Amino acid sequence: MSEIKNKVIWITGASSGIGEALAYQIAEKGGKLILSARRENELQRVKDNCKGINPDEIKILPLDLNQPDTLPILAQEAISLFGTVDILINNGGVTQRSLAVETSSEVERIIMEVNFFAAITLSKSVLTVMKKQQSGHLVIISSVAGKVATKMRSSYAASKHALQGYFDSLRAEVWQDNIKVTLICPGYVKTSISLNAFTAEGAKYNQMDKNQELGISVDVCAQKILQAIEKDQEEIYIARKEMIAVYLKRFFPGILSKIVKNIKVGN
Ligand SMILES: NC(=O)c1ccc[n+]([C@@H]2O[C@H](COP(=O)([O-])OP(=O)(O)OC[C@H]3O[C@@H](n4cnc5c(N)ncnc54)[C@H](OP(=O)(O)O)[C@@H]3O)[C@@H](O)[C@H]2O)c1
Repeated sequence: MSEIKNKVIWITGASSGIGEALAYQIAEKGGKLILSARRENELQRVKDNCKGINPDEIKILPLDLNQPDTLPILAQEAISLFGTVDILINNGGVTQRSLAVETSSEVERIIMEVNFFAAITLSKSVLTVMKKQQSGHLVIISSVAGKVATKMRSSYAASKHALQGYFDSLRAEVWQDNIKVTLICPGYVKTSISLNAFTAEGAKYNQMDKNQELGISVDVCAQKILQAIEKDQEEIYIARKEMIAVYLKRFFPGILSKIVKNIKVGN
């Protein structure tokens, strides 16, 4: 059982959405927090809104997941803030709203860098301290898109599929050091993710998708993520009707393929 109380928990993408909701719930459970994302002012707002925690037990560590060379150094800085990292939640991420053929290779590379390479770099950096202390927990916010790929999400789905493969492999390598790996696969969650999505050329999509608007609340999503951490679950879905696609992919992939081909481009 991975406790939250008194644990040092580093969250990337803590300036909004799922990461922000996680910060509030972890603070209430008595965890010590390191909050990371690019926007320092938003991280400060999240810190100020955390309740039930001594402000000294929340540190802000701004970072850009798209700057790979900076991440190992920043990970050492994160470890030095409280002397360790017990739980790393790789949550920061970005999606797209663009057809594969039209998407610039720059956008494709940023999505892979932010969603995939940054998560593995940070995880490997904290693994050194986790191995030494013979305990730790890596949490990865993947997606239903890590299992089922749909139109307009080619690089996003690729990045989430890559996380699934990498961290399933890593889990098999580190369990004997008492290091847990939990993959979280949310479906639609009501956040700004579609507003922040890239268009084909890398502009901000800036539209709230209907599926996101009607999605699961961030509070419920964060609650289920923390339950999965506390129960040391290896993988969970947080989804509603999207689960049909997951089961079709597993048991009737041909049927799912036909459905996906016929989905109207847009959402
Ligand atoms: N919402 C959904 O329906 C859904 C479903 C499945 C999976 N997810 C996953 O959940 C995670 C959180 O997304 P969300 O829905 O909460 O969306 P969000 O509100 O847009 O949050 C994204 C977070 O990632 C951070 N981020 C983006 N690019 C970054 C970069 N280059 N460097 C550092 N931080 C960066 C953002 O902070 P800054 O802009 O301040 O850097 C923000 O805190 C993502 O991994 C996403 O793929 C979401």
